[in-house]
Amino acid sequence: MKVLVTGGAGFIGSHTVERILARGWEAVVLDNLSTGLRTNVADGVRMIEMDILDDRLLDLFTRENFDCVVHLAAQTAVPYSIDHPDTDCQINLLGLVNILEACRKTGVNRVVFASSAAVYGNAANLPIIEETTLYPGSFYGLTKCTGEKYLKLYSQIHNVEYVALRYANVYGERQGDGGEGGVVSIFTRKLYQNQSLSIFGDGGQTRDFIYVGDVAAANCQALIAPKVAANRVYNISTQTQTSVNELAHLLSQAAEKPVHKNYMPARDGDIYHSMLSNQAAVASLGWNPVMPLAEGLNRTYHSLKKSL
Ligand SMILES: NC(=O)c1ccc[n+]([C@@H]2O[C@H](COP(=O)([O-])OP(=O)(O)OC[C@H]3O[C@@H](n4cnc5c(N)ncnc54)[C@H](O)[C@@H]3O)[C@@H](O)[C@H]2O)c1
Repeated sequence: MKVLVTGGAGFIGSHTVERILARGWEAVVLDNLSTGLRTNVADGVRMIEMDILDDRLLDLFTRENFDCVVHLAAQTAVPYSIDHPDTDCQINLLGLVNILEACRKTGVNRVVFASSAAVYGNAANLPIIEETTLYPGSFYGLTKCTGEKYLKLYSQIHNVEYVALRYANVYGERQGDGGEGGVVSIFTRKLYQNQSLSIFGDGGQTRDFIYVGDVAAANCQALIAPKVAANRVYNISTQTQTSVNELAHLLSQAAEKPVHKNYMPARDGDIYHSMLSNQAAVASLGWNPVMPLAEGLNRTYHSLKKSL
């Protein structure tokens, strides 16, 4: 199977490429290197430096004849989307449409799309299930939620099969500190540099942290899940709540050094508790998150230490 991974030089993309290779499939990366790094791409994998908005995308698809696409390339920073909704919309929606047009015109079998927990906004009932009404609180969340609707219509009108995955807070090796869910990478860097960790509010706020290898495995499962599981949206999460205080404690254990916490006023609009149900993905995709948080944080810390 020949799989195109857009955004494959990025954080989740580079882990996804590794999993694709481990399964014996062929991976090709398309990335404009705006936040990704060529060095993230596994040895021997072809990387095409191109923007998803590029007019030459269809020529590339025609030439390469991809079986499937994992579409991860995106503008991923929530605050940036608030200040630059036009650019966010261009990359996350027009970019997606450009990919979908190339898919339908060249008969790609399935598209796996990176959506996000940001589509839910401040949902009251936990764990959040996929049927929950969507109230994105940022333009980033809005482009992800609109992207899902494009996928649905493309499947209905043009028969382009898709699986959309709403990732919770992803963490792990090679994460940058600019995009979504960066609290782990920010804390890891600060701890390494012996700086205090800024915690907004009382630190009791919880998130659903999922290891990037588990997300990459979900992307692969979504490529091969049976047809009845396609054309649907799934949460990809651990269905576990971890407080920011607990996260700081686990990281301090991984680093084997004390952590200094600097409590700041809570930020307006911050969600207090978040946890996504993963039951649909477990039942239909044949996927399970396997990495314990302490072990995942340990790997993240030691990989950063090695890279600096
Ligand atoms: N990291 C998280 O916690 C998280 C959570 C939910 C959803 N997501 C989604 O997962 C996907 C991957 O995110 P990530 O955390 O790996 O981010 P990342 O920034 O590491 O990866 C994105 C990649 O896309 C590339 N890219 C960006 N714009 C492009 C364009 N116009 N054309 C071609 N390539 C482009 C970047 O260079 C980068 O390599 C994104 O769609 C993101 O919205 C991430």
